[in-house]
Amino acid sequence: MAILVTGGAGYIGSHTCIELLNADYEVVIVDNFSNSNPIALQRVQQITGKTIKVYEIDLLNELELERVFQENSIEAVIHFAGLKAVGESVVNPLLYFEKNLISTISLCTVMQKYNVKNIVFSSSATVYGLPETLPITEDFPLEVRNPYGRTKRMIEEMLHDVYISDSSWSISILRYFNPIGAHESGLIGEDSIGIPNNLMPYITKVAIGELKELNVFGNTYETSDGTGVRDYIHVCDLANGHVAALKKTIEMNEVGIFNLGTGRGYSVLEVLRAFESATSLTVPYKVCDPRPGDVAIYYADATRAFKELGWKAKKSLEEMCKDAWRWQLNNPNGYLKRKKQSTSSK
Ligand code: NAD
Ligand code: WQD
Repeated sequence: MAILVTGGAGYIGSHTCIELLNADYEVVIVDNFSNSNPIALQRVQQITGKTIKVYEIDLLNELELERVFQENSIEAVIHFAGLKAVGESVVNPLLYFEKNLISTISLCTVMQKYNVKNIVFSSSATVYGLPETLPITEDFPLEVRNPYGRTKRMIEEMLHDVYISDSSWSISILRYFNPIGAHESGLIGEDSIGIPNNLMPYITKVAIGELKELNVFGNTYETSDGTGVRDYIHVCDLANGHVAALKKTIEMNEVGIFNLGTGRGYSVLEVLRAFESATSLTVPYKVCDPRPGDVAIYYADATRAFKELGWKAKKSLEEMCKDAWRWQLNNPNGYLKRKKQSTSSK
């Protein structure tokens, strides 16, 4: 039996494939490479010494997708594929509804047809909006603030409805906090296209000299140093969270929602200093206006994932910084030969 990983060539997907292969799962990937490069998958095979089966398919193409279920014995699906750039989703909401919602409907329809009813879904902590208290537990009210977040919330609700209609489905919804870092080999990592929107890839691009300085978005928030606080999680810890969730999804028939974070927040300046200390580099920065839509503090209560999945994040901020830098240094142009151009980074 194999695990189908949609979006398996992407940032989180490629790291998760490594953990799946290391745990002896057979892996089949569906990716249209709209925001990734097949080289990532060659590197996954290089790191693990194992092979994966890859289909270059857009999830919106239901007929092509059926072929994957006909040619393989799929036991469960981990569904990463989708667009993830918040700003882009505000400018082009229909694109996000099409690419995120319709493709998930297409996937679930094919799964149902081929009687594959175990799914682990990549949701996001963004569904919590502006939390009234901290840390954030899974029971907090949801409040979406942009079309990207709305697609995540709508897919969560759709999956609930699918389960209500047929309780032989088993569904894990994983709400990620802020994944950063890279595999310790330095062979795979986050391949941002253009100017990154997110903090860590921006820092590494300043450190390597590609960008002049970090723009710190606001220093008057009610936090220890006035800069925004987030729950950064090493992408390999996050990847392991998927293996833990997958085991539970295959064993049980229920809908589970899990925060995947470390439970601790760091400010922008703390991350910057941690990066400088981990790499012995100096990263120039200037303080700018706050970024519209940003919240001051966001961090997870990850107790449920520990109690029910036996998973918790282990890697330190120092390891996140060291690994992000090793990836950047070894791959100054990411995966180099890009198959297709995409506008979305996050
Ligand atoms: P990514 O863009 O690196 O990976 C997504 C992958 O899906 C890419 O390889 C892309 O080519 C593929 N893809 C996109 N649309 C497709 C389609 N229609 N058919 C087939 N393949 C398609 O993104 P990521 O950072 O690895 O994120 C993975 C998932 O996790 C996404 O659903 C994202 O919304 C979610 N998420 C990410 C973060 C984050 O900070 N990276 C945080 C929370 C949630
Ligand atoms: C982190 C902190 C910024 C860049 C985003 C998405 C979210 C989720 C994860 C998918 C904030 C500050 C950043 C910079 C800065 N993705 N910052 N200068 O905004 O918490 O979450 O990625 O689901 O939906 O919104 O992450 O890395 O952009 O920002 O000062 O150049 O760094 O203000 O405090 P964010 P981020």
